[in-house]
Amino acid sequence: MSQIRVLLVGAGGREHALGEALHRSEAQLYVAAPTVNPGLKRRATEYFNVSVEDGASITARARQVGAQLAVLGPDAAVASGVGDTLRAAGIPTVGPGREAAQIESSKAFAREFLARNGIQETPRFRIVRSAGDVEAAMADFGDTPLVVKPSGLTGGKGVLVAGVDFASTEEGRKLAKDLLQSTGQPVVLEERLEGEEFSLMAFVDGARVYPMPLVKDYKRALDGDLGGNTGGMGSFSTRDHLLPYVTASDRDQAVSVMERTVSAMRKEGLDYRGVLYGGFMATAHGPVLLEYNARFGDPEALNVLTVYDGTDFAPLLLSLAEGHLRTTFLQFRRRATVVKYLAPPGYGASPSPGGTLTVDEATLARNAITLYYGSVTPGPKPGTVVMGTSRAIALVGEASSLREALGRVEEGLASVRGDYAMRRDIATAIDLKKRTTHMESLRGGTRAKAPGKAENHTRSGPQPPQVFG
Ligand code: AMP
Ligand code: GLY
Repeated sequence: MSQIRVLLVGAGGREHALGEALHRSEAQLYVAAPTVNPGLKRRATEYFNVSVEDGASITARARQVGAQLAVLGPDAAVASGVGDTLRAAGIPTVGPGREAAQIESSKAFAREFLARNGIQETPRFRIVRSAGDVEAAMADFGDTPLVVKPSGLTGGKGVLVAGVDFASTEEGRKLAKDLLQSTGQPVVLEERLEGEEFSLMAFVDGARVYPMPLVKDYKRALDGDLGGNTGGMGSFSTRDHLLPYVTASDRDQAVSVMERTVSAMRKEGLDYRGVLYGGFMATAHGPVLLEYNARFGDPEALNVLTVYDGTDFAPLLLSLAEGHLRTTFLQFRRRATVVKYLAPPGYGASPSPGGTLTVDEATLARNAITLYYGSVTPGPKPGTVVMGTSRAIALVGEASSLREALGRVEEGLASVRGDYAMRRDIATAIDLKKRTTHMESLRGGTRAKAPGKAENHTRSGPQPPQVFG
């Protein structure tokens, strides 16, 4: 296959990983983003300084360089309809248009879409648009612990969970009303579910769903799932492409939710071409969908792209964007991966930018530890970078077991100096044990089942609970 000219939109860690995978497939890479990612800079034939939401400028650049494919990284690019502008100019694009992207950009749209299409594997929810709605919804939910979510994009950071981010029903009521006021958008109130989360990303070519390996993302800023919700502090994937506490049956049920979603989209005239990402909670009664994203996850992309097997990533994405994904290009190695993000101190609450990291790239490369740059700018000396306010750099380890993959990342940390925030519990044996035990106890609980609780979810129709172990 001859070289494919690809315009990649975005410049975070996810886009650096996408850029490297495209580079491995000998694509000729062009990048459009408002900041310069030092890793992407090296790979790009040309780097255009534009906003990721500026569809007109991005399309003009794509035409100028004769791009045969465009790939949208960030949620903002997808949500603002850059995909529509590119496709209107005849450029095959990975990333849905504005209307379909509402599955991520408007939680109210997503919940209503799923409900009217009979896709019931979601938490019980109410969309509130006024203080009166809040009162009525709270009366309906009674004592059920709730989650309060702004409808619009928040980078995964705006969701408030009872018992974690707030204590009493009273506080929840006030938070919901405050959010309505401050965002001027609807707010979703939903039941808080108990379980363990997993990310399922799939390629979607308008018609079919092609799942990638499952990934566990660590969303909270601090060890033990404490601190604020972040974009994700790190993640892991395993060699069997499941998670220690997520069974093949859970995965298959989650894939089925996504397949029904895509066929409902087709029915409603939405041609979804891109990556669909389901954030699921494995519960005692099967997986429940917490949210959709209309793009690759970050850090999840770093896990799956590491085990993407082959040199055909650009042709794979081109076949997707043209509406007929070529499955011969779709292969993932049976290897485990661990990703750790290093972020500015205070990330997740109030990050302090400006700190310098010294990175020994040569040693990392020698030890086969992958480094991706995120929100950084070149530093004062060679081998240094300055952190912005978001996740700065990611280290990725790949090995035949999770333990070894984690060992590689830990070894890699010796090659990075500076003052940064990082989670220490990602993919550790203790963390995995805790999550597995939690899931076992929930699943065990269904055998001795609390009837009221089970009904909440069996209404949503997942298969009978899978007994773990
Ligand atoms: P979201 O942006 O909807 O994925 O929410 C961000 C995070 O909030 C999720 O990853 C969960 O950790 C938590 N969360 C969201 N919805 C629920 C829910 N219904 N029950 C429990 N936790 C939730
Ligand atoms: N890691 C979560 C996200 O990409 O939204």
